[in-house]
Amino acid sequence: MPPVVESIARTASPLVESLGRIRLQERLRFLYEFARDPRSTGAIGPSSPELAEAMVRDMGLESADLVVELGAGTGAFTTAILDELAPETRFMVMELNPRLAASLERDFAHEGVDVVCASAEALCRHLDASEVGRVDAVVSSLPWVCFSSALQHAILREIRRALRPGGRFCTFAYAHAAWLPSGVKFRRELRAVFPECEILPIVWRNLPPAFIYRCER
Ligand SMILES: C[S@@+](CC[C@H](N)C(=O)[O-])C[C@H]1O[C@@H](n2cnc3c(N)ncnc32)[C@H](O)[C@@H]1O
Repeated sequence: MPPVVESIARTASPLVESLGRIRLQERLRFLYEFARDPRSTGAIGPSSPELAEAMVRDMGLESADLVVELGAGTGAFTTAILDELAPETRFMVMELNPRLAASLERDFAHEGVDVVCASAEALCRHLDASEVGRVDAVVSSLPWVCFSSALQHAILREIRRALRPGGRFCTFAYAHAAWLPSGVKFRRELRAVFPECEILPIVWRNLPPAFIYRCER
């Protein structure tokens, strides 16, 4: 094998291995939703287990009373979050797409996950209706760069309002898009609402590679 091909194969093999861990059915369901509505779905496939692990790390989930996930899709992060939670922790998932919300309900309701089919803009309204109090951690994979500035701002304010002081919020961005105007604009908006925000190293084993913003209220 020519050295350059060998080098590409060596570099790509962990990514291929990682993608192989995502179930085919999950990938097809995601692709179907992307074809129907690319802007709202925001990605061509589910996030990798490696990105899921990085998202839940250091979020304080093991001691949380109430955790919220926004934009759960086919549940790539839902499983990783559930693995961290104590049995009595309340866990609410918001997903706008009714087909994805129905499949999340099928896959996770029996584990006590409260699946809400609604936009993240309505987060506080749903929390108030459930009388559950403030949130300890919000894990989001919303497709921010597909949103208008007004929607970004409204949802970020909603997340801040939902969190207890000291509560944590994480979200990810695709590395290649971070320096495009839409990515820069989102980062500015994010920092305006969450001045306490750090950027974590790129997770290469994800398609496309992504990095995480971890913020604190
Ligand atoms: C990039 S996908 C992430 C899915 C999954 N968490 C993952 O990482 O594989 C974004 C998800 O956010 C959902 N979504 C888009 N806009 C939303 C909104 N305003 N409120 C709640 N969910 C939304 C989409 O339907 C989609 O399932």
